[in-house]
Amino acid sequence: MIYLDNAATTWPKPPAVEKAMVETLREKGANPGRGSHRLSLAAGRVVYHARELLAGLFNVDDPSRVVFTLNCTEALNLALKGFLKQGDHVLTSGMEHNSVIRPLKALSAFGVEYTVVPCNQRGELNPGDLERALQPNTRLIVLNHASNVTGTLLPIAEAGLLARRQGLAFLVDASQTAGIFPIDVEALNIDLLAFPGHKGLYGPPGTGGLYVREGISLIPLRYGGTGSQSESEEQPEIMPEMFESGTVNTVGIAGLGAGVEFLLQEGLDRIREHEAALLEQLRSGLAAIPGMIIYGPGRQPQAPVLSVNIRGNDSGEVAFLLDRIYQICVRAGLHCAALAHRTLGTTKQGTVRFGISYFNTDEEIRQAIEAMSGLSSELD
Ligand SMILES: Cc1ncc(COP(=O)(O)O)c(C=O)c1O
Repeated sequence: MIYLDNAATTWPKPPAVEKAMVETLREKGANPGRGSHRLSLAAGRVVYHARELLAGLFNVDDPSRVVFTLNCTEALNLALKGFLKQGDHVLTSGMEHNSVIRPLKALSAFGVEYTVVPCNQRGELNPGDLERALQPNTRLIVLNHASNVTGTLLPIAEAGLLARRQGLAFLVDASQTAGIFPIDVEALNIDLLAFPGHKGLYGPPGTGGLYVREGISLIPLRYGGTGSQSESEEQPEIMPEMFESGTVNTVGIAGLGAGVEFLLQEGLDRIREHEAALLEQLRSGLAAIPGMIIYGPGRQPQAPVLSVNIRGNDSGEVAFLLDRIYQICVRAGLHCAALAHRTLGTTKQGTVRFGISYFNTDEEIRQAIEAMSGLSSELD
């Protein structure tokens, strides 16, 4: 079996991730932050250690500004619903995931307006277009760092500068880049950084987080269950408890911490170079197959994601055949990003998406190219 659906979630995980999770469950399985006994404190240290590692990875000064969430979708919902108020206007791009577009659409019923700034067919956004779309009531820019459909990088450095100059908040969805590209929230002027724990950070599913810059005020998604200031009926305004209501996923967070340690040991540069080399092998191999349509920027740097189609064939059928005949796991369809497919002109057909991780090999990519070549000659 060859797993090439790493843009959805990475698999396999480093062995250290599994070890950290098992150890935490066996030896530190108490509720962190709900008691002062030794086991609760041990669990709390596991959570704090992961928070510190993530803060270090994103150049966040104060680890308490990193909030754990269920996944990146929850982090984006917290940022958007927590920050935006009636009358606010938001700028976003034509390559966003529905984790951004659906909350914005839902908020539009409460008087929040948003403008989708179009991208070109390679998924590229012109920062000048972003500036031209500003309105007097614009309060936030939200962009994904890289598209989950084409891997195209969006100009977040330019957008961050624009936001800073105009006094706007800047939210980045780092779903496809966290753990692959360096992200420095200070250098990039990022105020809110949403990230999944289970993709490029190699943590387990059910993990993610949101960095919230000091001075950015958010309303929580959930209330109660923090274990601090229990005498009060008000939600405590202490970071990070204010946004982590309820028992956190200690075991998952232990795995996420081990995933970040793994990344730091290997080095982001080495990980990114390995993935980029495999992506170029895949892109050039597929480009040589008659009838193959390849989407995206066509060059590095990009996230390790490649979307293709075989002529007009249904992407779901191609993915099904890759799985059934060749035991190759990829994703087909719209990848939760209908807007990006509108930009690419692939709304009806979707795309077959290959997502590469550090654990893939050139032999696996060779087999994937061979399989696509076989399917291209069999299908219309
Ligand atoms: C660009 C982008 N944003 C948001 C998400 C949502 O992430 P999660 O699955 O962690 O909720 C994904 C995941 O596929 C993504 O690729």
